[in-house]
Amino acid sequence: MRFIAGFVSAFILLAIAGLAVVFGGLVNIAAREPHSAPVFFLLQTAMRQSVARQAASVPAPAPSTDMARGFRLYDETCVYCHGGPGKDPVDIGKGLNPEPPFLPDTIQRWSAAEIFWIVKNGVRMTGMPAFAESHSDEDLRAVVAFVQKLPGMSAEQYAAYEKEQ
Ligand code: HEC
Repeated sequence: MRFIAGFVSAFILLAIAGLAVVFGGLVNIAAREPHSAPVFFLLQTAMRQSVARQAASVPAPAPSTDMARGFRLYDETCVYCHGGPGKDPVDIGKGLNPEPPFLPDTIQRWSAAEIFWIVKNGVRMTGMPAFAESHSDEDLRAVVAFVQKLPGMSAEQYAAYEKEQ
């Protein structure tokens, strides 16, 4: 009986402490402040596991070969946050927390189905927008195919796509 009473009091104290942190404004939400290592780990892991689970429950998109269309969308809509070969992100991308990953370095950790899911649905509270309402699935399939080509793409190859437009 004493054990249960102790357990319940500890739980109530923890809940009060949690509410005090939230309502007392004790969390510094400035984007300039990095997350603490444990919070960053938890958020990143939750994001990766969620994408893997959600993407597994929908059919994988048919692969696209329309690189020109994928480039156009990437260069107009993604590059200012994510950067690209020979292109730094602009000030919007640099000021976000979490910082938008440099896709040529990171894209290989995701499958095509996962990239499609991320681009279509976005990632809540990170700055990564959902493009489902603004773009067709064909557009999104093309941008998935294009970002999968980014690793190893030189600045000259990226610029060559620009000239073809
Ligand atoms: C306003 C800035 C912004 C724009 C525009 C944007 N993104 Fe993102 N994106 C982000 C941020 C921030 C993250 C990190 C989310 C996280 O870590 O949970 C992200 C994550 C991603 C990821 C996961 C990358 C990884 O390695 O974890 C992919 C893939 C991605 N974006 C693709 C795109 C594509 C394709 C476009 C254009 C159609 C795009 N994004 C446009 C901000 C942006």
